[in-house]
Amino acid sequence: MQSPIVEFPLRTWQASIEPAMQKQAFETLEGGGVLYFPQLGFDLQDEEKRFLSPSWSDGKSKNIYLRGKERNLRGFAGSEDDALALAALIERYASNAGQLLNGLFPAYAGSMDMSNTSLRPVEAAGRTQSWRHDDSRLHTDAFPSKPTHGRRILRVFCNINPVGKPRQWRVGEPFADMARRFLPRLPPYRPWMARAMYALGITKSRRSEYDHIMLHLHDAQKADAFYQKNAPQVAMPFPPGSTWICFSDQVLHAVMGGQYLLEQTLHLPVAALIEPNHSPLGVLQEMLDRVLI
Ligand SMILES: [Fe+2]
Repeated sequence: MQSPIVEFPLRTWQASIEPAMQKQAFETLEGGGVLYFPQLGFDLQDEEKRFLSPSWSDGKSKNIYLRGKERNLRGFAGSEDDALALAALIERYASNAGQLLNGLFPAYAGSMDMSNTSLRPVEAAGRTQSWRHDDSRLHTDAFPSKPTHGRRILRVFCNINPVGKPRQWRVGEPFADMARRFLPRLPPYRPWMARAMYALGITKSRRSEYDHIMLHLHDAQKADAFYQKNAPQVAMPFPPGSTWICFSDQVLHAVMGGQYLLEQTLHLPVAALIEPNHSPLGVLQEMLDRVLI
C-alpha cells in the first residue's frame, strides 16, 4: 500500500504558503491522505504545563473541550480561574489551527465551520470500551446522533506529550477499497426509520441514506476482527511536537496509544471541495449510482 502520510516542512502555524505546497496540501487531503507536519509543535507556557494531567477531567468525558460556537468549557473539573486559563490555552490552539488551515487551503476560506476544540489528557491505550466505541479499531468517523448529509469532518491534531510519548496511529486502506468491501453487507436504508429517529430526538436532524451508510461502514469496520488484523494498513507514531491533518470521515484510522493531544474539528460542505468526487459522498454515490442525500 502506498503510504497515505505526506510530510510538509512547516515550522510555524502562520507560515505564508507557496501555491505549489497549497496544491500538494489539497491533493493529499481530498485524496484521503494525512498531512504530517513533523516540525510543527504547539508550545505551552510554563504556567500551563500543570494542565498536562488527567486529574482535570471530570471523569465523565474522555476529553476536555470548548464546544462549537458556544466556546464553553466541558469535561473539566477545577476552579473558575483554572477553567479560564485552560480555555485560553485551548482557544490559542484553535486560533493556530485555523490560521494553518487558511494558509494551506485558501479555496476553503469562508466555508470552514469551526466546531469543538479538545484537549485529550487521558491515555488512549487500554481504555475499556464496547467494540463500537473502541477507537483502537480502524474506522472512519460517523456519529449516530449527528447526521452530516455529506458535510466533511476535518481534524487538526497536535501531540503535546511532555515526556516523548508518540501518538500511535494505524492508518488503513483507501476509503473506496473499504467501502467496496463492506457495502454489500450493510442493512438497507429505511426513510421512515430516519424520520422516526428525528421525531424522537435520537438524531439532531434526519439521517440521510449517506449517514446511514457511513454509520454502518463505521460499525462494519470495527466489528470485523479479521479486517482489523489483515487489511492493508501502516503504523504511524506521531511524535510530540508534531501536527497532522486529515478528513477523519475518509481516512481509516485507529488510535493505539498516546496521551496529551490537542485537536480541532471543523466541518466543510461538499460544495467547497475542489474534487467532490473524491469525498465519501462522491465515492458512494458513484458506486451505488444514486443520490444519497
Ligand atoms: Fe475517529
